[in-house]
Parts: sequence; C-alpha cells; structure tokens
Amino acid sequence: MKTIIKNTVNSVFGAAGLAVVQQETVEKSNRGQIIDKELVRFIGQVEESLRQTVLPNLPKRKNRHQIMIECINFSLQPFFLINYLNEVLHVSGDVCEFGVSHGASTALFANEILETSKHLYLYDSFEGLPKPTKKDILINDIASLGSMDRYQGEMAHPKERVLNRLSKVEFPIPRTHVIPGFIEKTYKTGILPEEVSFAYVDFDFYEPILIALDLLKNRMNPKGCILVDDYGYFSAGAKTAVDEFIAAEKGKFVLTHPPEWGGKFVILRPA
Ligand SMILES: C[S@@+](CC[C@H](N)C(=O)[O-])C[C@H]1O[C@@H](n2cnc3c(N)ncnc32)[C@H](O)[C@@H]1O
Repeated sequence: MKTIIKNTVNSVFGAAGLAVVQQETVEKSNRGQIIDKELVRFIGQVEESLRQTVLPNLPKRKNRHQIMIECINFSLQPFFLINYLNEVLHVSGDVCEFGVSHGASTALFANEILETSKHLYLYDSFEGLPKPTKKDILINDIASLGSMDRYQGEMAHPKERVLNRLSKVEFPIPRTHVIPGFIEKTYKTGILPEEVSFAYVDFDFYEPILIALDLLKNRMNPKGCILVDDYGYFSAGAKTAVDEFIAAEKGKFVLTHPPEWGGKFVILRPA
C-alpha cells in the first residue's frame, strides 16, 4: 500500500522534479554530507600538518580537499603526489597519467594545473587490467582474488566517469586528451605531448609500465619527473619494470623514494 501511494504521489509531482523518498535515504544523505564536510576539514588539517613538517612548499589550492575525499584511501600518498607535481609546475611540458581508472587522481592533478596552460594526457584501456605476464608475481592480494590471473579486467571504469570528474573540476576540454585502449596497442598511434614535465605511471603491471617509461624517456623535460606507483606492492612487475628501465638507461635517470609512509611510488628524474 505504501508503495502504491508513493508511486501515485511521485507520478503527480515527478514532473516538477519532486519525489517521495524513504526517510532512511534522506537521513543517510544528510549524514553523508556531514561526513564529507568533516572529512574536508580533516584533510585540511592533515595538509597543514604536512606543510609545517615535511612538505613546506606545498601550495594551497582551491577545491583540493573536496576532490581528495575520492582518493585519500587512508594514506598520505595524494599529498605527496601533488607535492611532486607542484615542484615541477614552473617547468615547461605537459602532464600525463598512465592508468586513470575512475579518474580520482586525474581530477586531483587537473585541479593543480587548472591555472596553467598545461595539457593533460590520459591513457587507459577503460577495460581494466590486461593479462599479467610471468613477471607480475602477486605480492599483495589487494582485492582478495586469490591469484594474479584473476585480476585481468579488474579496475574497469567507463571513460565518461573520468570526463565527468574533469568537468566538475572545470578542466578545459581543449586541454584534455584521452587515449583509450591498451597501451600495448595505443602507443603505436604516438599520441604524446612533445614535452612532459610530470607523468604519473599507475598501470600496476610489468609490461604497460615498461612501455610507458619507454615512451616518456625522450620527452621528459630535464627538470621534470616521473612517478611510478606500486613499486614493490601488489604486482612484483612494477618494481621489475622500473629496475630494468633504470639499468637499461645506464645512469640517464635517477631513482628516489618518498618517506616510507609517504606512499608506494618512486620518483624517476632525468640525471
Ligand atoms: C590502479 S588503476 C589507476 C588508478 C588511478 N591512477 C587513481 O589513482 O585513481 C590502474 C589502471 O590502469 C589501467 N591499465 C592497466 N594496464 C593497462 C594497459 N596495458 N593499457 C591501458 N590501461 C591499462 C587499468 O584499466 C586501470 O584503470
């Protein structure tokens, strides 16, 4: 009976954009809003603590804390990522992200470069992870799937979700370049910026990481930097790809680490 009444009222008032919803839903969304507001405040406090200690040069940025709610994951990594991005903001060259998933980190980066003229190049299959290679040994079973093979196709999100996030940040469409498809194929199209100041490589697996590093090596501004995520985490392939790349480049790139609690990524800079 309650459903009939609800449907009838909704059919009358629906045209005016009004709807009857369960009290529970309303309470949940209010609670959600309060939690978001508290989270934004907390993220602001964490940022200020980091600024007063280990990240003294991290500039303040409008809307950053709201965007961070989506990618904070109980880790300080996003603060460190944007700190490295801000360190090279004055360096000429565009920004690339290899592995965007649903665009949480993408929106964060876009917001940081909003006031610059930098373009954003985004590479993702939008079909999730590829087939792992033999070098992709499972170190951390992050989604409790039991074996590395089962991760094929995981993390797939539609491109539209990323574009929607970018539009919320008001990042200009003419400065956005999305290259959909597996990098093993799309690298042949050669769609890359002429010069790169900052790249975030977050492909997780050995082969695509090595391809991304190979694409980037001749396009990096000498003062720019590449961050590669999941070094020694999830799949052994990420670390193997970085270590092989550094060895093959024979001193052309220098590898450094953030503090252990700063994230699971490494920093590669032209020597
Ligand atoms: C860990 S997620 C990226 C997360 C994102 N950077 C963030 O922090 O929100 C890894 C992404 O890499 C993409 N990916 C992995 N291997 C790929 C490949 N060979 N070609 C294209 N995309 C790939 C997956 O589709 C997935 O969306």
